[in-house]
Amino acid sequence: MSKQFDVVVIGGGPGGYIAAIRAAQLGFQVACIDEWKNAAGGPAPGGTCTNVGCIPSKALLQSSEHFDHANHHFAEHGISATGVKMDVAKMIARKDSVVKQNNDGILYLLKKNKVTFFHGRGSFAGQAEGGYTINVAGKTEEAITAKQVIIATGSNARALPGTPFDEVNVLSNDGALRVGAVPKKLALIGSGVIGLEMGSVWRRLGADVTILEGLPTFLGAVDEQIAKEAKKAFDKQGLKIELGVKVGEIVNGKKGVTVNYTNAKGEAIVLDADKLIVSIGRVPNTIGLNTEAVGLQLDERGAIVVDADCKTNLPGVWAVGDVVRGPMLAHKAEEEGVAVAERIAGQHGHVNFNTIPWVIYTSPEIAWVGRTEQQLKADGVAYKAGTFPFLANGRARALGDTTGMVKFLADATTDEILGVHMVGPQVSELISEAVVAMEFRASAEDIARICHAHPSLSEATKEAALAVDKRTLNF
Ligand code: FAD
Ligand code: NAI
Repeated sequence: MSKQFDVVVIGGGPGGYIAAIRAAQLGFQVACIDEWKNAAGGPAPGGTCTNVGCIPSKALLQSSEHFDHANHHFAEHGISATGVKMDVAKMIARKDSVVKQNNDGILYLLKKNKVTFFHGRGSFAGQAEGGYTINVAGKTEEAITAKQVIIATGSNARALPGTPFDEVNVLSNDGALRVGAVPKKLALIGSGVIGLEMGSVWRRLGADVTILEGLPTFLGAVDEQIAKEAKKAFDKQGLKIELGVKVGEIVNGKKGVTVNYTNAKGEAIVLDADKLIVSIGRVPNTIGLNTEAVGLQLDERGAIVVDADCKTNLPGVWAVGDVVRGPMLAHKAEEEGVAVAERIAGQHGHVNFNTIPWVIYTSPEIAWVGRTEQQLKADGVAYKAGTFPFLANGRARALGDTTGMVKFLADATTDEILGVHMVGPQVSELISEAVVAMEFRASAEDIARICHAHPSLSEATKEAALAVDKRTLNF
């Protein structure tokens, strides 16, 4: 007889393992199946985020930022550092050990919460009495059953048609995170989040980086004023970003990759590079789930169709994270995972799509929550804007990083905060104040009246809120 569970979660990324833990906390017998293998073939739960996404990219961003500081910023503090070298193999090994700590942490958390972990691929075998049978193909094969199934199988990098990833010269996010030596010339296609983060890592380490972007606007989803400020900083750093290009033939040769493209002026350009990173978005992953066995509905992009509560077309089957609609972010996947576990328990799971923060971990960092100025204009909303530059913030001056600003957008009549946009030092941390404020439907004046520690970067948030009412104190 197959093992029976109340809830089976397929996928152990941030959507899946968090859903499994929350379901177990609520008293269910839970199994979590994940197929990711570490280099030794053992389990490596945590999904894209832990293995080839959020965590390893931030580890490399940190290492490369230290290198950049040693080379370019120590001197202004009176520290002389000559002959600074980067041992790329050591940097990658450190990144791998950070990943392993996270894999091990997740295995520990699953055990602590009494979630049964299966290492292998989960697929639908069919309907069982009142539920579903799921096959688990790992070192051995077995079948388990459950009334409730949560699918959290994530996403994969999108390849350019005709240019498959070989992870040697043509790299997805996976290969981009384990390049063995600094490429002399690095090309990237797509100046979205991965393009900018990975482009920054290798530029800081000395690569000549060119990013080719199809759209004529830079970071179209970001508030225009913030995107413009960020672009200025990237240009100054020497990160070459070409907008409005049309990528043509790509030749993956023995010595590297040749990218033929037409630039915005219509000129034909040939770009030779040692490596090419293709970062043009991600596709939902349902490979191997055998959705046909149960008639699970997918949309034209291959995403699992869900309603606002993450319910699929099948009773008792839910889906969360990158494999469904919405932003492909780890914290969005986690929020959906928690909410679904709570809905299974008859509670009211809460996910507020209007207050999901975005962060791009470049230098300067870019972070935002809520609507941009261009969205408010398009929606016909009357708003007031207030900005405050880090140039006028004492802590930023002491840090030696005064790039960027904080920007508030508030309703013209009620003063409710509608969006907060930031570019500058450590704004990945500052944005959470704005998220809390928006979740509680605060006004700009609420933030302006709250005491912020001095000297801190967060004073720029308070001052930007004051700027909405045109009464900054330090600018
Ligand atoms: P995933 O993390 O993709 O996990 C899915 C898991 O399911 C995987 O382990 C997979 O092996 C497993 N699986 C799939 N099919 C099966 C099956 N049939 N049986 C068993 N197991 C299966 N987001 C952020 O919020 N912040 C960041 O800084 C950030 N940085 C990123 C950097 C990069 C380079 C990339 C690529 C992504 C980044 N993301 C970031 C996005 C983030 O990684 C994803 O949004 C997040 O991982 C989605 O979580 P998930 O649980 O839906 O899927
Ligand atoms: P993206 O959607 O952020 O950016 C893709 C870019 O490629 C876009 O600007 C698009 O216009 C461009 N593009 C698409 N096709 C093209 C073509 N043929 N030629 C030239 N340009 C083309 O996707 P990306 O960077 O691959 O990242 C995938 C997702 O992973 C992100 O959307 C995000 O959800 C997640 N992520 C989040 C991070 C974070 O939160 N800090 C970090 C990295 C990834």
